[in-house]
Amino acid sequence: MWPDRRLTDLLRITHPILQAPMVGPATPALAAEVSNAGGLGALGSAEMTPDQIMKSVAELRGRTNRPFNLNFFVGDAPVTDPAVLARTRDRLRPWYETLGLGEPPEALPALGPSFDDTRLALLLALRPAVVSFHFGLPPAPALAALKSAGILILSTATTVAEAVALEAAGIDAIIAQGYEAGGHRGSHQPTAPADGVGTMALVPQIVDAVRLPVIAAGGIGDGRGIAAAFALGAAGVQMGTAFLSCPEAGTDPARRALLAHATETDTMVTDAVSGRSARAHRSRYAEAMEQAREPLPAFLQLYTLTDPMLEAGQDEIASFHLYGQGARLNRAQPAAELLARLVTEATAAFAKLSSGAATRRQ
Ligand SMILES: Cc1cc2nc3c(=O)[nH]c(=O)nc-3n(C[C@H](O)[C@H](O)[C@H](O)COP(=O)(O)O)c2cc1C
Repeated sequence: MWPDRRLTDLLRITHPILQAPMVGPATPALAAEVSNAGGLGALGSAEMTPDQIMKSVAELRGRTNRPFNLNFFVGDAPVTDPAVLARTRDRLRPWYETLGLGEPPEALPALGPSFDDTRLALLLALRPAVVSFHFGLPPAPALAALKSAGILILSTATTVAEAVALEAAGIDAIIAQGYEAGGHRGSHQPTAPADGVGTMALVPQIVDAVRLPVIAAGGIGDGRGIAAAFALGAAGVQMGTAFLSCPEAGTDPARRALLAHATETDTMVTDAVSGRSARAHRSRYAEAMEQAREPLPAFLQLYTLTDPMLEAGQDEIASFHLYGQGARLNRAQPAAELLARLVTEATAAFAKLSSGAATRRQ
């Protein structure tokens, strides 16, 4: 039924629907259900220790023998200017006071994107069918080692220039992530939160610029969105928000409650929680920080200052519930049922488009 089989053939999956690798919600149970139903399941392994990755992969392999994807964040070691840290502590102090937290931490640990030689060696031993990277790619020798081990490589582009660079680096398919997407924007260099291209504009421009299969991501919530992605020239989709309410997902109860009543305007893009732009539910802290933008500590290091605020549990003041603009389309049902439903809906949307009927959800 799929009008373009490049991605299904490449990844050896039945349906070109990739479950996004989400730190937290993307559990082995979720990934296994998606892979068993014919899509590509993924683990959110970016912030796991090597030991946690090994355990999660063992659990996943106990549940499926189908292909799956392991995902990593890439980037330079974190560097935070001491003056920026001092200024950020001053800016966060009133929020700490409001939340009854005392003084913000004085030092930042060496937290940063974690793809390293240890994880490369682990991947070469574990040999998942697919590895995906966010925020760019690791150095060429690491890519060459993965390729010679027969591991397929995906990475995210948020602009045409990033997609062209990914193709030149020799990867297998490109995830075109539009501004609607929940979670961190996979831009190869940090970008301002307001800086983003929507999926509808991004996908066809990337499709025109590269020969690789393009996977559309961002705001795709049901079969109509999947059909639209194919109309734009994509060979598949990656969906994150849509899977957050599945019972198998590791989504926390507070976010599940928000998703049950989500609207298209709930979220904002902010870099004031992690140090890089991400789409999450609005909070008073994030809105105030965006209104008065100033340089922030490095990606992931900033969590050292904001984690206590998130842990305080006063979500309206400070939270980081990542989800996208399509969240109202989200459905709470088991992942295998959801995948089957997405396939049925996409099939119906393709048929309706060719018959000229309107494509409202039934
Ligand atoms: C809760 C959440 C966590 C995410 N974590 C990751 C991640 O760890 N790695 C990654 O490559 N993408 C991550 N993403 C982004 C997804 O890969 C994808 O671009 C996005 O979910 C697509 O938009 P959608 O949420 O509208 O479907 C995350 C998205 C969400 C919603």
